[in-house]
Amino acid sequence: MLNVALPKGRLGEKVYNLFEQAGYECPSIKENNRKLIFENPEKQIRYFWVKPSDVPIYVERGSADIGVAGKDILLEYSPEVYELLDLKMGKCSMAVAGKKDFIDDNRRPLIVATKFQKIAKQYYGMQDRQIDIVHLNGSIEIAPILNLADVIVDIVETGTTLKENDLKVIDKFLPISARLIANKSSYAFKRELIEKIKESLYQLTKEQL
Ligand code: PRP
Repeated sequence: MLNVALPKGRLGEKVYNLFEQAGYECPSIKENNRKLIFENPEKQIRYFWVKPSDVPIYVERGSADIGVAGKDILLEYSPEVYELLDLKMGKCSMAVAGKKDFIDDNRRPLIVATKFQKIAKQYYGMQDRQIDIVHLNGSIEIAPILNLADVIVDIVETGTTLKENDLKVIDKFLPISARLIANKSSYAFKRELIEKIKESLYQLTKEQL
């Protein structure tokens, strides 16, 4: 049985459809219920839905042989996994954003609200800019409006959230997309099967370009 961790949500559904097209279907997954684990014994595959940021944890620890995670999560947590393929889905960018009238005051550390502390520290470290991080778990866009932070470092996809909250992009600095990842020992022991899936997904992502 191959265990596959999928990111719960819109991206996860697209990713599952790709696996289905690749020949690894599991029809019960489309039943509208709250189950989180689904398997197709005939195809020797078991899928489970997990919080997107938890996918690398399941894969790193071997509860999942493979999984799909955003490059943002992989850069932030640096899990010990193999990154096998860019699925070219869930495309977005990591960006700095702030209020429309934001001007950086170099005389004091910049206050940065983010879920992505490591990425933010690396970005400002490269510019030798001192920062204070405010770690938030969501709705990051509110922070500059309420003067909790000067800027945010967050994901921008369509830009709608920024626009509707009167914020502007200051710098889009990192393209993000979904990646197929594998547990290191699973990759050694189930290499043939994992490579076969990777190759089928690769062919499909190529066609979709
Ligand atoms: C992400 C991100 C932004 C939004 C950007 O939030 O944090 O808030 O999407 O998308 P847009 O540019 O298309 O508006 P997510 O939905 O992942 O929820 P979060 O509040 O937990 O970050």
